[in-house]
Amino acid sequence: MSTPLLADLPIRRLTHRDLSACADLCEDRGWPREEHKWGLLLTAGRGYGIDAPDGGLLAACVVTEYGSPQRPDLCAIGMVLVAERHARQGVGRRLMRHVVTETGTTTPLTLYATPHGRPLYEELGFKVTGSSDMLSGHFTALGPPPAVATRPATGEDLASLVRFDREAFGVDRTHMITRLPAFSDQLRVAEEAGKITGYVAAWPNMDTHVVGPLVARDTETAKALVASVAARTDRPLRTDIDVRHEDLLTWLKERGLASVASNSIMTYGIPELPGDWTRRFAPLTVAAG
Ligand SMILES: CC(C)(COP(=O)(O)OP(=O)(O)OC[C@H]1O[C@@H](n2cnc3c(N)ncnc32)[C@H](O)[C@@H]1OP(=O)(O)O)[C@@H](O)C(=O)NCCC(=O)NCCS
Repeated sequence: MSTPLLADLPIRRLTHRDLSACADLCEDRGWPREEHKWGLLLTAGRGYGIDAPDGGLLAACVVTEYGSPQRPDLCAIGMVLVAERHARQGVGRRLMRHVVTETGTTTPLTLYATPHGRPLYEELGFKVTGSSDMLSGHFTALGPPPAVATRPATGEDLASLVRFDREAFGVDRTHMITRLPAFSDQLRVAEEAGKITGYVAAWPNMDTHVVGPLVARDTETAKALVASVAARTDRPLRTDIDVRHEDLLTWLKERGLASVASNSIMTYGIPELPGDWTRRFAPLTVAAG
């Protein structure tokens, strides 16, 4: 039997049952398996993949829609991966073209690009609109405690959280925000006079706690939220901070976090991301915005 051409292999939808195969693909590329995150992305988002003739997945990516389910306002693309042994043979281009054709004709797209992925996305029409710095490390409290009080979120906060998040993100993320209480180990809010002024989630990823989303009305509130989750974990933190938030980046580095990677924030079909970047400090994950 002859081996089918890569270009003839069908692209199919991934489901939660593909979780291990997705994690294997990550490992193949030297990425962590991140099964907890894949679990979220494959249920809240839409996975696309190509089966390898010799078993497992040859390529994968995930698309998360935001806004109205009938007519989404924004789609975030992430976890674009092609198995090493099939790299540089046009598979990534084919998978991305498929996703852009299926979603990008009606809906603006966004993604965080690694230096590897960026040339391909540029070729497809994505434009760089910003960048983020991935920080990692043990957080050490320094100086007086932040003046802004925080507390764990409760079920009663969820509707306000969704509203607060929508103002900062620019589109509705109800289906993601309502998953945060189960997905995260910590979900905390800051409030003033009974109104939410910020929130943060910290979720387990391999040996770290990822801090995100981190959404706050100002930098002092963002700092208080990070300090409050750091005080409740022994794990190193990981987070992706928009580089325009220089003050927060400096503050985190003074407290033990170090820059480990940088990603370009790209859009397709819109010149800028919607919402208010000044209140958006860190995404839930670079794979879903
Ligand atoms: C990025 C990735 C998905 C590309 O998939 P691929 O199937 O190897 O890419 P293609 O063969 O379709 O190449 C498309 C174009 O992308 C660019 N490209 C792909 N790999 C590249 C590399 N290692 N260095 C520089 N450019 C690269 C080139 O412009 C290439 O076009 P060309 O081969 O005609 O010059 C794949 O390399 C990968 O899985 N990398 C590791 C994970 C990763 O970084 N994913 C991106 C997340 S944003």
